[in-house]
Amino acid sequence: MSPPSPPIIDLFKYALALLLPAAYLASRYLRSTTPPALSTPASTEEKPVKSIMQAPRDDLAPPKDDPFTLAQLKEFDGSNPSKPIYVSIKGTIFDVSAKADVYGSGKSYNIFAGKDGSKGLGMSSLKVEHAVPDHSGLSDAERKVLDDWHAFFSKRYNVVGRVIDLPAVVNHEREASSEDPTPAANTSSDL
Ligand code: HEM
Repeated sequence: MSPPSPPIIDLFKYALALLLPAAYLASRYLRSTTPPALSTPASTEEKPVKSIMQAPRDDLAPPKDDPFTLAQLKEFDGSNPSKPIYVSIKGTIFDVSAKADVYGSGKSYNIFAGKDGSKGLGMSSLKVEHAVPDHSGLSDAERKVLDDWHAFFSKRYNVVGRVIDLPAVVNHEREASSEDPTPAANTSSDL
């Protein structure tokens, strides 16, 4: 048999028995009266996704179609501060000068500057030997990654031209493929 509890403990038990339901009801009331903007989004609503990547731009210039050889493109690798910085993806040349902080000389993505590094982009590789135009050996998943990058750049950087001397194997792929590699055509992705 348990010893009789002292009156103070009884009082505590009564208080708890009264307070718990009251607290529950109060919380339900508060939840039902919270304005929609402050309440947690319903599961059907999309939560806003915060990206560390820059947002798409709506002030891009009409794409240019100026021809560049790979040798000419090299001039725009960020080593000359008085020249713009260009990155080519699948032969489309983008002016990335606005992001000299990542594409400039010695910066993390300078590996892609002044060249067509499509293969490396598709492989998510920063190795210099992968930053080459011939992306013919990529898997389907890697091709998708590469196309997503093309779409990403198309929405953020001005197209200044196209590479006219891509390796024959890449040009052959372009002709065989149904996709259109022309600038701004690859914008179907939601990147
Ligand atoms: C630990 C691994 C990595 C981290 C933490 C990282 C981080 C980031 C961050 C923070 C940005 C946004 C930069 C900015 O807008 O200022 C970015 C952009 C980017 N990253 Fe990475 N990254 C990583 C690996 C890679 C790899 C392996 C590749 C190779 C393809 C890559 C390619 C890029 C490219 C092309 C951009 C776009 C820059 C732009 O034009 O806005 N990253 N990354």
